[in-house]
Amino acid sequence: MLKRAFIDPRLGIAALLILCGFALFAQQKEITIRNITDETVQYRITAVRSTDEPKKHSIKVDVIARLPGEEPLTIYFERPDGTQSYVLEPGMPYSFRYDENGDLELYEGSHGREDAIDLAPYVSTPPAVVEKMLEMARIDKNDVVYDLGCGDGRIVIMAAVKYGARGVGIDLDPERIKESNLYAKGAGVENLVQFRIEDVTKSDISQATVVTLYLLTESNELMRPSLEKQLKAGVYVVSHNYRIPGWELKLVDEAEIKGEDGGNHNIYAYRR
Ligand SMILES: C[S@@+](CC[C@H](N)C(=O)[O-])C[C@H]1O[C@@H](n2cnc3c(N)ncnc32)[C@H](O)[C@@H]1O
Repeated sequence: MLKRAFIDPRLGIAALLILCGFALFAQQKEITIRNITDETVQYRITAVRSTDEPKKHSIKVDVIARLPGEEPLTIYFERPDGTQSYVLEPGMPYSFRYDENGDLELYEGSHGREDAIDLAPYVSTPPAVVEKMLEMARIDKNDVVYDLGCGDGRIVIMAAVKYGARGVGIDLDPERIKESNLYAKGAGVENLVQFRIEDVTKSDISQATVVTLYLLTESNELMRPSLEKQLKAGVYVVSHNYRIPGWELKLVDEAEIKGEDGGNHNIYAYRR
């Protein structure tokens, strides 16, 4: 006969408390703010529901501020056109960058990782622009499209839906990859596309026959050695809004179109 094991009930309670503590710790969210400008930024911050005076902070260049907590926060900072304020959601990454006029702006979607280069904030390409980018890359079903910094995966998903092309979307932000997988499934192309959480500066992109980019000029410049080293001759590299410095002679097509957002968008198509 098996002996009945004796468990001290106090041990059970202690284990439960440790587990609860661990679960709480694991669930702890944090807002991260990265400073990708070239100056120290001053800002003020307070809990959305608080009536306290916002606390003053400053953040040095390329430093990441971490704000643990479960509550949304309101952030204030100064620009030449007045005080800006935004609500920051728990668990989300943000970054201070300059906008297209060179003024300070806070963007969503920087990744808050110390070990990776932040190439661009999350801003998606309007569908009409995606369509034109794919057209300029002369995509067909034999292509393998790599979108470097894929956001919600829309470029590789449209390439798969419209042309039957295979695709790989790479982004640092796990939220974006989650969305991408969801949208790919919704569009019924999950067998043609895959999404990876990676720093694209370290990715193997050698299998690409088309590369799409919506980064920034300096990020395209940073990616250039990897494009030159890994891509086969003849591969199309199509960039939304930003040129690839040093690739002037590889430019094969250029277009300006209106997106659904009403804005003008430039597209630059290069051939490696
Ligand atoms: C401007 S969005 C473009 C999204 C998508 N390609 C589109 O055109 O709709 C840039 C994306 O690059 C991602 N990103 C920034 N730095 C990255 C890095 N080092 N590696 C991978 N993704 C990065 C951001 O998370 C963001 O989703």
